[in-house]
Amino acid sequence: MKDELDDISVCPMTERDLEQVLAIENDAFPLPWTRNHFLDELKSPHSFPLVALGQDVVVLGYVCSMHLLDEGHILDVAVRKDFCGRRVGRLLVETALRMCREKGADFVSLEVRPSNVAAISLYLRLGFAEVGRRKGYYENGEDALLMEYLFNNNEEGGDAV
Ligand SMILES: CC(C)(COP(=O)(O)OP(=O)(O)OC[C@H]1O[C@@H](n2cnc3c(N)ncnc32)[C@H](O)[C@@H]1OP(=O)(O)O)[C@@H](O)C(=O)NCCC(=O)NCCS
Repeated sequence: MKDELDDISVCPMTERDLEQVLAIENDAFPLPWTRNHFLDELKSPHSFPLVALGQDVVVLGYVCSMHLLDEGHILDVAVRKDFCGRRVGRLLVETALRMCREKGADFVSLEVRPSNVAAISLYLRLGFAEVGRRKGYYENGEDALLMEYLFNNNEEGGDAV
């Protein structure tokens, strides 16, 4: 049986994707990143923003991650609302984990709102664990859960998930 994900490719984000990325971002978050945020990610030598592309180069979702020394960090991930629940988020985060590992990360961290059940479920499903809490991290005073994915010694990235 043909898998729906077969028609989806994960590629480096480019400036051409930004209009669609911003539409998803604005729909997904109360305090969305601006175009300049994404432009900074495209320029940074430590960052590797990715998009999931469907047919006709439609952007279905994206993930912005960075790598520095032994740590990877996932900064932003979102999927187009009408494509949520079809494993696009999982594909994006799995790819980001694999790339962090290839670049030399021993672990990958991220922050998430405790109220974000979908995102927390996704991260737990992929093997992240809650390791702490940042008090009043978000603009509305909400704490952030700090989650980490720890690669095991012989994991090359990709066996992770
Ligand atoms: C979080 C988000 C990226 C998930 O993307 P998605 O493509 O819908 O997720 P997937 O279909 O890949 O789901 C993978 C796993 O996540 C969990 N999950 C996803 N959506 C869920 C939901 N609404 N409720 C509970 N669990 C959910 C499930 O464990 C699922 O695994 P399963 O399909 O085997 O049950 C998406 O909901 C989104 O864009 N949310 C808005 C932006 C956001 O909150 N980003 C995270 C900021 S930290």
